[in-house]
Amino acid sequence: MEKKNLDWENMGFSYMQTDKRYVANYKDGKWDDGALIDDANIVMNECAGVLQYSQSVFEGLKAYTTEDGHIVTFRPDLNASRMVDSAKRLEMPPFPEERFVDAVAQVVKANAAYVPPYGSGATLYIRPYMFGINPVIGVKPADEYQFRIFTTPVGPYFKGGAKPITICVSDFDRAAPHGTGHIKAGLNYAMSLHAIVTAHANGFDENMYLDSATRTKVEETGGANFIFVTKDNKVVTPHSSTILPSITRRSIMYVAEHYLGLEVEERDVYFDEVKDFAECGLCGTAAVISPVGKVVDHGKEICFPSGMEKMGPVTQKLYDTLTGIQMGHIEAPEGWIKVIE
Ligand code: PLP
Ligand code: COI
Repeated sequence: MEKKNLDWENMGFSYMQTDKRYVANYKDGKWDDGALIDDANIVMNECAGVLQYSQSVFEGLKAYTTEDGHIVTFRPDLNASRMVDSAKRLEMPPFPEERFVDAVAQVVKANAAYVPPYGSGATLYIRPYMFGINPVIGVKPADEYQFRIFTTPVGPYFKGGAKPITICVSDFDRAAPHGTGHIKAGLNYAMSLHAIVTAHANGFDENMYLDSATRTKVEETGGANFIFVTKDNKVVTPHSSTILPSITRRSIMYVAEHYLGLEVEERDVYFDEVKDFAECGLCGTAAVISPVGKVVDHGKEICFPSGMEKMGPVTQKLYDTLTGIQMGHIEAPEGWIKVIE
């Protein structure tokens, strides 16, 4: 299969239409067989549930070209099960997990020409999502849904790639106790747009959200979880019922403990202790591991000893091991890598 002639090395994180997408529809209480189609546009009624009351959930994962030329995805089964959790919370019919994993494989295979070559720094981002599609005017769940997956080749989420970023403590809250912060619903992102535009306008790359109940604990950013490294090399990540359970973060904590022999802790992280950490990073499918050099809290700066030039040494080791597993030159734990072709 011949690759598309794209500028793989200089891609940003943006949408590019690729050849095929997967579509399945839910009607009369069941999902149809689903199919790959060509049309990137969706026609729906003006009163569709997603348009009125934002009944939509999504996922994000990537396909990689390994060193030996295979196309693989990373732990798609975990995206499948998280999407079931998201759907249930928004009263949507879950898309069956095995079908999710199979549909990801189909759509990646069909767009293999867009999977960036090994070593280019780019990857194929895969976006599964589903939404209420029939007319809904009283506030209630839709009866009909569409599940889709498209793909788009992407480069680094933050401009500058592995260069440390500067983030600010947000005055806005991302998630309420007992709310929807732990699921991947579009509504969580809609309400973060004002906060991110404000952060950018003030010269910051991202927001650090605190827990909305006490505003004393670190939660996450708009699109990634946090990892911190203590001065004695322990890897710490916030524990909270109102953050998205990042698959990247769960994988990093495993890699830290089992591949690098580091101590790991998932616990409450108070904002007051952030100044004492040696390193800080954001982790997620899009972010991979993006180092944070500075956190600004209303003019007060916390500068991590790792600085603004490069990742700290432990973050670098975590990054190299995780991406080594994804790109196939470090052996993966059982079941983490799904070979597509
Ligand atoms: N937190 C939020 C709010 C996200 O949108 C994402 C992205 O998916 C993550 C964390 C990271 O999750 P994952 O590692 O599963 O991509
Ligand atoms: C992902 O990492 O897949 C996400 O969905 C985060 C989003 C901010 C792009």
